[in-house]
Amino acid sequence: MKQGPIACTWSRSRSLSLSLAVLAALAVPVGAARAQDAGQLNVICSVQAEWCNMIQTVFARTTGIKVNMSLKGSGEALAQLIAERANPKTDVWFGGTGDPHLQAAEQGLALEYKSPALGQLHLWAQQQAQQSGYKTVGIYSGPLGFGYNTELIAKKKLPVPQSWADLLKPIYKGEIQVANPASSGTAYTMIATLVQLMGEDKAFDYLKALHKNIAAYTRSGTGPIKAVARGETTLSISFVHDGPGEAMQGFPVATITPSEGTGAEIGSMTIIKGARNLDNAKKFYEWALTPAAQEMGAAAKQFQVPSNKAAKIDPRVPDFKKIKFINYDYAKYGASNERKRLIGKWEKDVNSLPR
Ligand code: F6P
Repeated sequence: MKQGPIACTWSRSRSLSLSLAVLAALAVPVGAARAQDAGQLNVICSVQAEWCNMIQTVFARTTGIKVNMSLKGSGEALAQLIAERANPKTDVWFGGTGDPHLQAAEQGLALEYKSPALGQLHLWAQQQAQQSGYKTVGIYSGPLGFGYNTELIAKKKLPVPQSWADLLKPIYKGEIQVANPASSGTAYTMIATLVQLMGEDKAFDYLKALHKNIAAYTRSGTGPIKAVARGETTLSISFVHDGPGEAMQGFPVATITPSEGTGAEIGSMTIIKGARNLDNAKKFYEWALTPAAQEMGAAAKQFQVPSNKAAKIDPRVPDFKKIKFINYDYAKYGASNERKRLIGKWEKDVNSLPR
């Protein structure tokens, strides 16, 4: 696909009423299950809080299973699972970029589980499962791009960057935020995308040059677009599906994808090997793959493409057909050694430089 960059803007709208409608439709309490004490489930959730809270509430109400949820970025979640290896406290890891899920699979932290619902999923989600030996599965996808504050950019008389190359221009010095790849899957996706787009040497030259324009590296991948929305910085490198939710809150934010091409994440879900609440983990996993559960993403103002083909696509979900993508090698960049090596190299060669 050869296309120029696309810009997306969104209007404020119906998120709250939609959220309530979904909750009302799905959160039917199952009295019997509750009375019998359906047990509990420990979930690490790596999407944004509103979606995590919604699945926690709705799943608990529909099954009677108490969900203990902790929110962590993709890199932090993987670090916790590695630390818990001898005595796992987590049953399911929901969401976050796919690369660290593949790494968890490779490191023996994930349980092999082949869902009967696999055939209902898009091919990219099934491929994520196949290449992990059925130790993870794709639950959503979304493209990497840039966010910008429409008011600040106009006030500062800055052009909207159209390309990766544009971000290096001295006019953007101190205007850009991106997350730290050690904690954030978004930022690791950026590094892996650039390496695939430019080759490793040129990508690291690029990252060193970009470093001069970076105002801050945040812990969480969504931190930069939130800072853009609130006028704390002008530009971010972010997943573009995280833009509409900010715009719906009335913030002046828009997104664009770079003209040279970009990568996409396959947000994933994994059952942890040694899960103490395995039956409940499988129930949650099956539920999370249903169209109704996947539509909760948009109800919580998060606009990734759901992996279940029957899930409705909200009009604010980025249109993949209009975006120029690289052919992202998920197996290679999800491999433990490669991910560790690239993050280590970024820490040593890029993050250590003065700005
Ligand atoms: O929840 C929003 C989101 O962009 C997801 O699509 C993605 O999987 C996740 O954040 C990545 O978060 P982080 O970069 O903090 O690991």
